[in-house]
Amino acid sequence: MTDDSFQRTDDSFRNLSSVSGSPAPGAAPAASPSPSLALSPAFDFDAPFDRAGTGSSKWARATAPGVIPMGLADMDLPAPPAVAEALERRARHRAYGYTVCDPAGRTLVADWYRARHGVEVDPDWVLLLPCGPRTALRVLLETIRPEAGGHRPDRPQAPVLFPTPEWGGFAQLCRAARLDHLELPLPTGPDGYRLPDGPLPRPATAVLLSSPHNPSARVWPAAELHALAERAAEADALLVSDEVHGDLTHPGHVHPVAATTVDPALRHRVVTLNSVGKTFNCSGIPSSFALVPDPGLRARLTDALAGYGLWEGGLLEQTVQQAALREGGPWLDALLAHLAAARTRLTERLGAAVRSAPHSSYLLWLDAAALGLPPANARQALLERCGLESSDGADFGPGGRGSLRLNYALPGRVLDTVLTRLDRLDLDRPHP
Ligand SMILES: Cc1ncc(COP(=O)(O)O)c(C=O)c1O
Repeated sequence: MTDDSFQRTDDSFRNLSSVSGSPAPGAAPAASPSPSLALSPAFDFDAPFDRAGTGSSKWARATAPGVIPMGLADMDLPAPPAVAEALERRARHRAYGYTVCDPAGRTLVADWYRARHGVEVDPDWVLLLPCGPRTALRVLLETIRPEAGGHRPDRPQAPVLFPTPEWGGFAQLCRAARLDHLELPLPTGPDGYRLPDGPLPRPATAVLLSSPHNPSARVWPAAELHALAERAAEADALLVSDEVHGDLTHPGHVHPVAATTVDPALRHRVVTLNSVGKTFNCSGIPSSFALVPDPGLRARLTDALAGYGLWEGGLLEQTVQQAALREGGPWLDALLAHLAAARTRLTERLGAAVRSAPHSSYLLWLDAAALGLPPANARQALLERCGLESSDGADFGPGGRGSLRLNYALPGRVLDTVLTRLDRLDLDRPHP
């Protein structure tokens, strides 16, 4: 398939099968070796990665042959070999009955934070969850909802607060849980978003924070997080720091882990959420883990989980979590080198269209008008002009209108094609 061969069709399965084999979806021959090749000899993130026939939701959004799906947040890159080997090993033993929690998993989480972030996490804080981050957040909201005797049983209307734009899940979860919520527009500084630093509406039930930020991939400075935790405490709100992109922080940036960054006196008012699903591209096997320093909240959350038939220590997620945390470090280092190199190539090309300087993950948050696309119809226009599928900024809350989110976690050669296609946008011409 050549770069120009994509055409419209409604047959997404044809599209999926059209990308099997060689060459990869929309992949043109690389003009020059991708920059990450030299950095990650042990893990090849440049080779085509064929997801055809795997039921990928991201690829189901590519509605024509040759379209490169860059919307949904998972990676077109193979997960760590150690995870595959652990799953294979475990699957070979046909004991698939109920399982208990292996406490070694908590120590592995603490070891991971020490090794990757240089911080001390008490293994007792750790809850190993058999559900993805979205479900974990929903159960947490049910646990702290005022009517459940949560944070403010005396003030049932105390809303849940979160900065916008946000990844879309916070608003969806609050609506589903029938919790009042307020979206707080993120202020902008010279190179992108800043956290709100003024007093928050009070009382509030919780402040939900995406850290690093999805959609912009900004890593919040520790000082801003520190201040937000204080504002949240003044509003008598629990701070929930959703850090599922935290381990994807690019070299040269430091992700502040909420549990260990806030004033120790406020620790019991903070929940930190993380997931090997995001970090190691295993979201199809739902799992997450939470740091909950407050023993009372931990116990209530565990009770609430039981009410949904969820318990710590499920079979598959323990297998994946332990393999990833124990052996995934070198894979992650290579991945981050690959992503950081891709980020540099794209941000250099896209210039002022990048709304907020990205420091983590594989997401770019773009100003549609600066790309020369009609803000109200930018997603469709990018698809038609470049064959690139993206996420519509309107899905990220009121602060997202007129923006697009692009996921660039792609094999190097597919990224080459993306860059070639972006040339069709006349990026160098000034746009009104
Ligand atoms: C910041 C953030 N939190 C939570 C989630 C939810 O993850 P999942 O759908 O795997 O539960 C996502 C998914 O993209 C995310 O980006």
